[in-house]
Amino acid sequence: MKGLILSGGKGTRLYPLTFTSAKQLIPVANKPVLFRVIEAIRDAGITDIGIVVGDTAEEIKRAVGRGGRWGVNITYIPQEQPLGLAHAVKISQDFLGDDRFVMFLGDNVIQGGISPLIAQFASSEYNSQIVLTRVDQPEQYGVAELDPDGRIVRLVEKPKEPPSDLALVGIYMFDHHIFEAVNAITPSWRGELEITDAIQWLVENGYKVYPYIHRGWWIDTGRPGDMLEANSLVLEELTPVVEGYIDRDSEVDSRVTVEKGAEIINSVVRGPAIIGQDTRIVNAYVGPFTSIYHHCLIENAEISRSIVLEHCQIRNINRRIEDSLIGRHVVLHRSPIRPRAYKFTLGDYSHVGLLGEDSG
Ligand code: G1P
Repeated sequence: MKGLILSGGKGTRLYPLTFTSAKQLIPVANKPVLFRVIEAIRDAGITDIGIVVGDTAEEIKRAVGRGGRWGVNITYIPQEQPLGLAHAVKISQDFLGDDRFVMFLGDNVIQGGISPLIAQFASSEYNSQIVLTRVDQPEQYGVAELDPDGRIVRLVEKPKEPPSDLALVGIYMFDHHIFEAVNAITPSWRGELEITDAIQWLVENGYKVYPYIHRGWWIDTGRPGDMLEANSLVLEELTPVVEGYIDRDSEVDSRVTVEKGAEIINSVVRGPAIIGQDTRIVNAYVGPFTSIYHHCLIENAEISRSIVLEHCQIRNINRRIEDSLIGRHVVLHRSPIRPRAYKFTLGDYSHVGLLGEDSG
């Protein structure tokens, strides 16, 4: 089997971080989501992986390389424009050939990996297998309607009136018949060739499409809130390792990973949390569900349930920072320079939540 990862898109809902960085490279528990996807596919025994790339191609290539680090072979497949998931399959036909394959959206994070799924599909007669999970807002996804025996009746993309709460997770398995489907369908109202329509075409044309109901968590990391949620869930499952330095005045609980070269001085760190390589935590509090990436400084500050990217400095802040997603090279500090006022240099589409008058 082969793997196909989709890693295009502009990530508009994650501005301003995605002005300068591909959304798939935002780290969750200090590892880019895309790396987690590559590892999930590799762990299922697949070593031939294609990555469909768009505007952020160069950045993705720089970060991932040829795949040697994971023991896999990466082939890049450029998609000139984001014309849909089924379009991505279409342009990958040369790479995929007649092999069965798994397609995985590069911004999806799923509990438990995909090894059992791949094993089941690899040895089956199915033409396609889709992964479904129950969600609160099915209208935001592709949705499946099943009959009482659990067989697929119909699939619809982002329906106004969802026939069920079973959403299509961004993991799909196909054999070569999918190429007939992607060539037969026409663009949707949003101008994209929808993979949901292609699978519906398979169902209508008598191909065997089977659903698998995923019962753990799954997150499509489109928005900042999703990133924080995925970060919390992955941190909870991390096996903690301490490779950095913790001084005697610090209190670091057992669910904290401290990466190489990191230093925790006179601070409290509550897990689950991860402190990245060469990061310093000084006179600070780092609360649960927080990931601080490499080469940061957190000094005289408190932060919890947040993601901080590399090379940030957060110093002398007298309120706790919470539920925040902070991009690379950000400096947040209390300025001694008058006038006593907030002074910002913020990127386009930044979000800043200040305390209101009545919030003390
Ligand atoms: C895509 C698919 C949708 C699926 C979702 C999962 O949506 O079209 O069927 O449920 O991924 O992440 P998109 O992210 O393109 O809106």
